[in-house]
Amino acid sequence: MSICELRGVSKTYGSGAVEVHAVRNVSLSIEVGEFTAFVGPSGSGKTTLLNQVGCLDTPSAGEVLIQGRGTGDLGDKQLAALRASEIGFIFQSFNLIPVLTASENVELALSLAGESGGKQRAVELLDQVGLEGLANRRPNQLSGGQQQRVAIARALVKKPSLVIADEPTANLDSANGEAVLDLMRQLNQDLGVTFLFSTHDPMVMKHATRIVTLHDGEVVSDERKET
Ligand SMILES: Nc1ncnc2c1ncn2[C@@H]1O[C@H](COP(=O)(O)OP(=O)(O)OP(=O)(O)O)[C@@H](O)[C@H]1O
Ligand SMILES: [Mg+2]
Repeated sequence: MSICELRGVSKTYGSGAVEVHAVRNVSLSIEVGEFTAFVGPSGSGKTTLLNQVGCLDTPSAGEVLIQGRGTGDLGDKQLAALRASEIGFIFQSFNLIPVLTASENVELALSLAGESGGKQRAVELLDQVGLEGLANRRPNQLSGGQQQRVAIARALVKKPSLVIADEPTANLDSANGEAVLDLMRQLNQDLGVTFLFSTHDPMVMKHATRIVTLHDGEVVSDERKET
């Protein structure tokens, strides 16, 4: 089953002489349970494409379908509601709220999705990502790898059908990067959460079950590995 389908999606920034074709006529489908990496040189369109899949941005041409439903007619509020319920995000720079504790950061994602009683669920999830006993620490009291684990818990707390991560290991040393990737892969296999991420890192690529390579905004290869 397809979680997200792109049909002929293009994204152009600017116009005239400064026009940039960041994504050109991309059609692909992200299937339930996949662990997909977008790879390609800097500027090849990875972030732009992730933003289309995650409905953080709207395409210049083509169509994005989430769970088979077209998103072209949705307004900003409807898109925000769709993201809050279906899609979790993990960022390169963690993007935790500095004045909130780890569990409060996770709880906030739940309350934004309109759910209450999140404290217990937040603590359980923090345990699950290997942060037992650290729920009351603020981000500046945690290492980079631990902060990214909080961000993973935050992305998962709403039970999204898809988690999107733009270079999730770029700000981590190789040991912490590998540990974060192992955790994502474990959650993918144990909970069946579908992950889509971008990376420059060969270690991260090694973990992927599908590698989509971009060049100048186009998909130049799309390979699935045996798992
Ligand atoms: N808001 C914007 N306005 C104008 N051009 C943009 C904008 N965002 C991205 N671009 C351009 O679109 C192209 C694709 O950028 P994108 O950020 O998607 O690449 P990327 O593959 O994620 O690169 P990196 O590996 O460096 O993160 C680049 O040429 C970039 O300069
Ligand atoms: Mg990028």
